[in-house]
Amino acid sequence: MVDEKEKSQGGITSSYDTGDGVELKVRYSFFGSIYDDEEKEAAWEAMQQDTLTMGPQVAAFQNEFAEYCGCKHAFAVSNCTTAMHVATQAFGIGEGDEVIVTPNTFVATSLVIVKEGARPVYVDIDPRTYNIDPAKIEEKITDKTKAIYVVHYGGQMCDMDPIMEIARKYGLYVLEDCAHTPGAEYKGRKAGTIGDIGAFSFHSLKNMTTCGEGGMITTNNDDLVDAIQKLRCMNLQDHENQPEYWLPSHFDVVDVNGKWGCNYRMNEVQAAVGRVQLKKLDSLNAKRQEIGRYINEGIKDVVGITPVYEDPNCKHIYHLYTLCVEEEILGASRDDYMRALYYKEGVQGILHYQPTYDFTGFRKLGYEPGLCPNAEKFFYKRETNLPMHPRLTKEELDNMIKGIRNAAERVRK
Ligand SMILES: Cc1ncc(COP(=O)(O)O)c(C=O)c1O
Repeated sequence: MVDEKEKSQGGITSSYDTGDGVELKVRYSFFGSIYDDEEKEAAWEAMQQDTLTMGPQVAAFQNEFAEYCGCKHAFAVSNCTTAMHVATQAFGIGEGDEVIVTPNTFVATSLVIVKEGARPVYVDIDPRTYNIDPAKIEEKITDKTKAIYVVHYGGQMCDMDPIMEIARKYGLYVLEDCAHTPGAEYKGRKAGTIGDIGAFSFHSLKNMTTCGEGGMITTNNDDLVDAIQKLRCMNLQDHENQPEYWLPSHFDVVDVNGKWGCNYRMNEVQAAVGRVQLKKLDSLNAKRQEIGRYINEGIKDVVGITPVYEDPNCKHIYHLYTLCVEEEILGASRDDYMRALYYKEGVQGILHYQPTYDFTGFRKLGYEPGLCPNAEKFFYKRETNLPMHPRLTKEELDNMIKGIRNAAERVRK
């Protein structure tokens, strides 16, 4: 038995155990995938290799991931944040530059911009998909803008055609934050293959996972490959025409247009597990989709509660199940609704995402409330994310649907 104290160790992304004694019927989970003997055997086999890093498993995982996505190159990294940091450096983004970005994302998407001394410029979201609104991008472009960073929120891709059109018109790089969308599609094209770089997360919560942490960079842009390889591995470069393998030395170190990388490598055991997970990804996503649609169907007639919207251009892979409470229609606030859902119905919801510019550290950079009204209304007034993972049972789903319905009736005015 794990005691209560141990369970909550590991910080904010490992648990939402509140210790308040509420009896839960459906608890929020911090593990997004399913492992079985295949992952166990793959991990054990990898552990017996000569090398435990940058070996055959990483090479094979990269090739298989690129093939699965339908892109030219893939590079395994330690997580999605480091993937996006490498991308930001490879794009040459630095002091004085601006990057267009959505506020409805985990802080990582903005963090990599400020880390390089550039300024995130926030563009509001579409209130139906919760993704960046392409119609609002152009007005935020200045002569300092270098790139557009989009996030495919919750498992559904952004409307990429207009975004790419704007990027081409102004000569901007596009980064796709695909942390929520391995295997998702837009007009038949997979996430991470449309912009210049795609960044994936295999963190514990995600649709496919590599032992808690992990990530992947994808690109079709040959010009970025050399920079990506160096920046994820300490700016190392092989010598050309070495007379002997130790002469003049084992390797050289070079800057990448003035940028210095880090050790952002993935290890062999993670890659071996990732290869097994990748084979299962379509079925894991299909399970999530089935679950998501089951919930949609079960709550579609609840007035004042908005289920997930599926854009007909997209294959939604339900990384999150996001439900919106429409206060004006229900006659009760999102927070009162959540209180009924949690305390009375035993269904645990959590909130993703506080607009990035509203965090204390970002406020210090001069951002003011009111910058993105849709994103603010979404986080502070409308949304909650309910448990979503492929291990949910029929009983849990039925309890969830019942809970969503009952909570609405409890608070309705
Ligand atoms: C949208 C988004 N971007 C980036 C990240 C960062 O991913 P990682 O934890 O792999 O660095 C996350 C992780 O939760 C995320 O949800």
